[in-house]
Amino acid sequence: MSTRAKLAVLGSINADHILNLAHFPRPGETVIGKQYQIAFGGKGANQAVAAGRAGAGIAFIACVGADDIGERIRQQLQQDRIDITPVETVAGEATGVAMIFVNGEGENSIGIYSGANAALTPACVARHQQVIGEADALLMQLESPLESVLAAARIARAHQTQVILNPAPATQLADELLALVDIITPNETEVEILTGIAVNSDDDAARAAQVLHDKGIPTVLITLGRRGVWLSEQGRGERIPGFPVEAVDTIAAGDTFNGAFITARLEEKPMPDAVRFAHAAAAIAVTRPGAQPSVPWRTEIDAFLQQQG
Ligand code: RIB
Repeated sequence: MSTRAKLAVLGSINADHILNLAHFPRPGETVIGKQYQIAFGGKGANQAVAAGRAGAGIAFIACVGADDIGERIRQQLQQDRIDITPVETVAGEATGVAMIFVNGEGENSIGIYSGANAALTPACVARHQQVIGEADALLMQLESPLESVLAAARIARAHQTQVILNPAPATQLADELLALVDIITPNETEVEILTGIAVNSDDDAARAAQVLHDKGIPTVLITLGRRGVWLSEQGRGERIPGFPVEAVDTIAAGDTFNGAFITARLEEKPMPDAVRFAHAAAAIAVTRPGAQPSVPWRTEIDAFLQQQG
């Protein structure tokens, strides 16, 4: 039997259709792409895979459609060391889809069809409440219905399961949900929507973090792209730089960061070390194309950190 700390991830599963092109099409414009691939993605699944490959003991609460790609994704998740017992197959629905453009600079632009992800309702969450209650931590994002994220957070709080929220894609959130969160990991866009503060400097990051502390969140991690991460614990803040690498595309970089970060925390690594571990995982991910295909395994993260000294 595993002695590893237990992680529950709740979130989305998508089939990503990724088209690389020189520039994003403007309205009315057609751009011929350079490369196309279908890869497994979805913020929930990417974070679950990042945790599984980094070595966490993990169960994933999610929904796929009753289609061929849904079945193939379930099989792949198992190979990524994830307990997929709480992944439900939804009759009459298609697996979620993300249409992703990647431009010449490696930036992306994403449109989503939720499909089976919309079936991850509060009733579905309730069916898997034991998974949440028995976990040491619950990691969630916002590609699932908001009322389900809230329901899961309530169950977690009732069982002293730590709640980590990656508030992506960006949206405003009720104070009731924020008060149930132990660690929040917004990027600059997301934190501006949550706090009204545009983060252009460390001082801005400190002020935005304080707004989130005031809403009841003890730990705030603001991801700042090339500038690293602003880590604020109860108002004591520091910026932890990332590792400079040549990016191919940034799809799932944030997801990889989140999955690796919580894995390190469950191993009781100190917070700054957990952030560096997550930076290393994300740095590897951006050097590879796609979402889950880019997510590194533990041996790769450890080797990368060793190389950095
Ligand atoms: O964060 C990247 C993910 O966002 C992609 O895998 C895509 O599915 C969208 O959900």
